[in-house]
Amino acid sequence: MKIAVVPGDGIGVDVTAEAVKVLDRVCRQRSIPFEPVFFPWSADHYLSTGVTIPPGGFDDLSRNYDAVFMGAFGDPRVPDMKHAADILLGARFQLDLYVNYRPVRCLDDRLCPLRDFRAADVDFVVFRENTEGSYVGAGGHLKKGTPDEVATQEDVSTRKGVERIIRYAFEFAQKRGRKRVVMSDKSNAMRFVGDLWQRTFAEVSREFAGIEASHLYIDALCMQLIKDPRQFEVIVTNNMFGDIATDLGAALQGGLGMAASGNLHPGRVSMFEPVHGSAPKYAGTGKANPFGAILTAGLLLDHLGHAEEAAAVEAAVADCVRQGAATADVGGSLSTAAAGDAVCQRLRL
Ligand SMILES: NC(=O)c1ccc[n+]([C@@H]2O[C@H](COP(=O)([O-])OP(=O)(O)OC[C@H]3O[C@@H](n4cnc5c(N)ncnc54)[C@H](O)[C@@H]3O)[C@@H](O)[C@H]2O)c1
Repeated sequence: MKIAVVPGDGIGVDVTAEAVKVLDRVCRQRSIPFEPVFFPWSADHYLSTGVTIPPGGFDDLSRNYDAVFMGAFGDPRVPDMKHAADILLGARFQLDLYVNYRPVRCLDDRLCPLRDFRAADVDFVVFRENTEGSYVGAGGHLKKGTPDEVATQEDVSTRKGVERIIRYAFEFAQKRGRKRVVMSDKSNAMRFVGDLWQRTFAEVSREFAGIEASHLYIDALCMQLIKDPRQFEVIVTNNMFGDIATDLGAALQGGLGMAASGNLHPGRVSMFEPVHGSAPKYAGTGKANPFGAILTAGLLLDHLGHAEEAAAVEAAVADCVRQGAATADVGGSLSTAAAGDAVCQRLRL
C-alpha cells in the first residue's frame, strides 16, 4: 500500500498522525507492505511558497499511489480558503471522485443522541454526488456592491453524473446485502434537476429488483433521520443535500470527531478523509479526537481489499469508546496521541 498522505492544516495534522500510526500497526501485524509518502500541501505551504498544488500534483497522485489520505484544510490566515478549494475540491473534481461515501454507524449507546434509540439503530450509508450540483462554481455577480446587485449560483446535474452515483448506491446495497435505497432531492421546488434525478432513479432502480427504492424530499429526510434512523440503509443524494445530511449523520454517531468518509472512483485512485475540518482552536493541543481519522483509515483498508483489517480497526475504536479510552468530546480524558495508542493496543488481528 503506497499511500499519499496530506495532513493539511490544524487538527488535520494531529489526527492524520494517529491514522497513519494505526495503519502502520495493522500493516506490520498483517505483513502488508505499507509506504506512506507525506505531502506538505497546506496553508503553511501556500503562505510560504504561493503554491497550493504544484503542477502535475494530481497526476502524480493518480499514477503513483494506491490511495490518498487527507487530514483537513482551513486556516484563518487564508480567509478565501484558496488552498482548501484547490487541494480538497481540486482532488474531488480533478480525480473525478464522484462518490462521496459516508457510512453512519454509531459505535456505542453512549454516543447516540436520540432518547429512544440505541447505537445499533444508527447504521446507514449516505452516497453524496461529489462532482456536480451547486459546487461546480457556476454563476456570478451582476452590479456587485450596488443596491441592484444580483448573485446567481447554478445547480448543475448531468445525466451521466446522476446515473453513476445512483447506480453506485444500488450496487453497494446489492453487494452488502442492504435492502432499501432512498433517493432524496427537492424536486418539488427545484423542478429541472429534480426531474432528472427522479427519472434516472426510477430507471436505474428497475435494474435492481430485490432492492426497495423510495424517495423523500430532503427536508423530510432530515426529519425522518431524527424520528427513526432505523428506516434507513442506503441514501443517495446530490452534492449539497449530501453535505448537509451527512453532518446530521455525524451528530447521530457521536459528533464530527467520529465521522469518516471516502471519495471514490471505482478502479481509480481514491481519497479518504475524516469529515471534520481543521478546528484551529484545537490544533496541537491534544484535544482533537482521532477516531474519525482512524475509522477513515479503516475505510481505506477496506477499499484496498483488506476487509478483515478494516473491521478490526472499527472494533478497536468501538472498544475504546465503550471503555472510555477516548478524547473528551466522546467522554474520555485521553490526548489525541494516547487515543491513537489505545486503538493500537486494542487491535485484534
Ligand atoms: N474537509 C475539510 O477539510 C473541512 C471540513 C469542514 C470545515 N473545514 C474548515 O475547517 C475550519 C474550521 O471549521 P469549523 O470550525 O466550521 O469546523 P470543524 O469541523 O473544524 O470544527 C467544528 C467543531 O467541531 C468540533 N470538532 C471537529 N472535529 C473534531 C475532532 N476531531 N475532535 C474534537 N472535536 C472536533 C470542535 O468543537 C470544533 O470546534 C474552517 O476553515 C473550515 O472551512 C474543512
